[in-house]
Amino acid sequence: MFAFMRAVQISRLDGPEAVEVVDIPEPDGDGKVVIDVAAAGVDFPIALQTRGLYQYKPNLPFVPGNEVAGVVRSAPEGSGFAAGDRVAALTPFGGGLAEVVAVDAQSVFTIPESVELTSAAGLLFNDLTVHFALRTRAQLLDGETVLVHGAAGGIGTSTLRLAPLLGAARTIAVVSTEEKAEVARANGATDVVLTEGWLAAVKGLTGGRGVDVVVDPVGGDRFTDSLRSLATGGRLLVIGFTGGEIPTVRVNRLLLNNIDVRGVGWGAWLFTNPGSLRQQWAEVEPLLASGRLSAPKPIVRPVAEAAAAIASLENRTAAGKVVLALR
Ligand SMILES: NC(=O)c1ccc[n+]([C@@H]2O[C@H](COP(=O)([O-])OP(=O)(O)OC[C@H]3O[C@@H](n4cnc5c(N)ncnc54)[C@H](OP(=O)(O)O)[C@@H]3O)[C@@H](O)[C@H]2O)c1
Repeated sequence: MFAFMRAVQISRLDGPEAVEVVDIPEPDGDGKVVIDVAAAGVDFPIALQTRGLYQYKPNLPFVPGNEVAGVVRSAPEGSGFAAGDRVAALTPFGGGLAEVVAVDAQSVFTIPESVELTSAAGLLFNDLTVHFALRTRAQLLDGETVLVHGAAGGIGTSTLRLAPLLGAARTIAVVSTEEKAEVARANGATDVVLTEGWLAAVKGLTGGRGVDVVVDPVGGDRFTDSLRSLATGGRLLVIGFTGGEIPTVRVNRLLLNNIDVRGVGWGAWLFTNPGSLRQQWAEVEPLLASGRLSAPKPIVRPVAEAAAAIASLENRTAAGKVVLALR
């Protein structure tokens, strides 16, 4: 006899408006940690999946969603988890936008008491990507300046929260609206500039020197200006392409100023370095527990608004990290 749960389902590739909230059987929890989901993160890859544009393309219909937070219902012996534990979990093969998930113990993390479940639902995917980006790929040094595009989004707000703790002396947020500028400030940006004329503003702010690291989840037509914004020895981190277009690099620009373009593929890294997920959490969790790293302050929407919530990422109206409340 199946128990049923509510879930957000993609059954045709017609964009966010076509997603449905459906009742489907709960997942099989055999050998897995079963979590009653309180809230689940909404990220840009989900918006891409609604049109079949993301690199990971499950067969239709499927439940999207890469991360959740909730309370453990049951866990296998020896897994390190027990019923009642407050946890966040990665659901790397989707399934997160649902009332119940069943996850391998290696993808489950106990969250500090001080972090609310709605915050925890928007935490792992972005914070651990940004931790990998700044620590491992950029090799950020103490005192450096970090610029982040799309600074009010998921990756953007994580960068603003984490960069100072990983050594940045200054963070510069690039955003498209005044409302998003407020979000960037609330997440700790040292300086905020609007996308219109951002390069000149950054040159002005840095006395013409430029920045040490650019975190770029946007790509598109601002990529070449991002190279121009780097100081000597600067690194541009390629994270994603919310701007739509995948840019190309004229490599003469790299030698002229001794700068680097570095790809950031967190998922690919975890695949080849499975132990690194726990190592990352071992660094990030104490920062959260001590309050040095603020918890995310997401926009929480009810599951009934799933279509609009996913659309707000695609149409760029989301001013902040978005999560769905499942209960
Ligand atoms: N490489 C990795 O390992 C990894 C891991 C996680 C996510 N990602 C990628 O990172 C990117 C960002 O994800 P996210 O969840 O942070 O997205 P998000 O919350 O929607 O934020 C993206 C930001 O991009 C900006 N943007 C610029 N042009 C846009 C456009 N045409 N449409 C929509 N947004 C636009 C928006 O800021 P403004 O309006 O202020 O410009 C928006 O706030 C995605 O491409 C995702 O696939 C990569």
